[in-house]
Amino acid sequence: MSRLKLIEGLFRDAVGVAALTLLLGAPAHAAAAAEPAAAPKSPPAIVTQVCAGCHGLDGNSTAPANPKLAGQSQQYLLRQLLSFRVKDGGGAADRQSQLMAGFAMMLTPEMMSEVTAYYASQKLQPAAAKNKDLAILGQKIYRAGIAAKNIPACSGCHGPSGAGIPVQYPRLGGQFGEYVAAQLVAFRQGTRNNSAQMSAIAARMSDAEISAIADYIAGLR
Ligand code: HEC
Ligand code: HEC
Repeated sequence: MSRLKLIEGLFRDAVGVAALTLLLGAPAHAAAAAEPAAAPKSPPAIVTQVCAGCHGLDGNSTAPANPKLAGQSQQYLLRQLLSFRVKDGGGAADRQSQLMAGFAMMLTPEMMSEVTAYYASQKLQPAAAKNKDLAILGQKIYRAGIAAKNIPACSGCHGPSGAGIPVQYPRLGGQFGEYVAAQLVAFRQGTRNNSAQMSAIAARMSDAEISAIADYIAGLR
């Protein structure tokens, strides 16, 4: 069994995240606390040659369609790279993106580990909210959910300041609103199918609620 096959197998298991961590090394945040040298200080070659073109040399992309990767949990980034890969036998990826599928397929496990540790260790330069009224509605949903529609508070999992709760819950605060909205739509329509929790939540959200929450999240610190 190739190492990547092994990693993918583990990823599908319930123990995936813990096992991945064992296999690929300490999570970036733990490593940063214990020994700061664990994440590469200078960008790995794959970053300068490929990823930086869209995600920035330091993980702070400038085009709102390209998510910021700086300061995101390493395990989360790793899970996404695996989700983008077309399944064995050609089955649709859990997270469909023609663009990212190609890049995710070409990375070796070592490169995935290195590139995610590097981006996780970078400092986020947060985006900003654009519309005050939208952001006010967004804040309500973020903090309290919408009880009548059975939509839970986002803060329950993603944290009050949107910092996320590694390993499970990604950082949201400061991400581009356009990207956040696109992901909620993708969860709703099933083209992103790598979180049962998020699919169920997004399925209950209207376009207007998605716009509001996305704008609030861009400005959230
Ligand atoms: C041509 C532009 C482009 C390049 C080059 C690129 N990406 Fe992406 N990346 C994107 C876009 C667009 C998305 C959002 C995909 C979607 O619609 O879900 C994305 C999403 C991601 C995500 C998911 C982030 C999240 O918050 O869920 C990760 C991780 C990622 N890219 C890593 C990489 C790495 C590592 C490389 C280099 C090997 C790379 N990307 C190269 C455009 C690019
Ligand atoms: C029960 C826990 C839970 C709640 C509540 C929750 N989320 Fe999530 N969310 C998750 C998990 C888990 C993921 C990561 C899925 C993965 O690993 O791919 C996620 C991922 C996301 C992403 C993708 C981030 C990225 O970088 O691509 C967005 C956007 C998001 N959530 C928005 C929201 C919003 C908005 C709310 C509130 C309406 C919310 N979430 C409530 C658990 C939750």
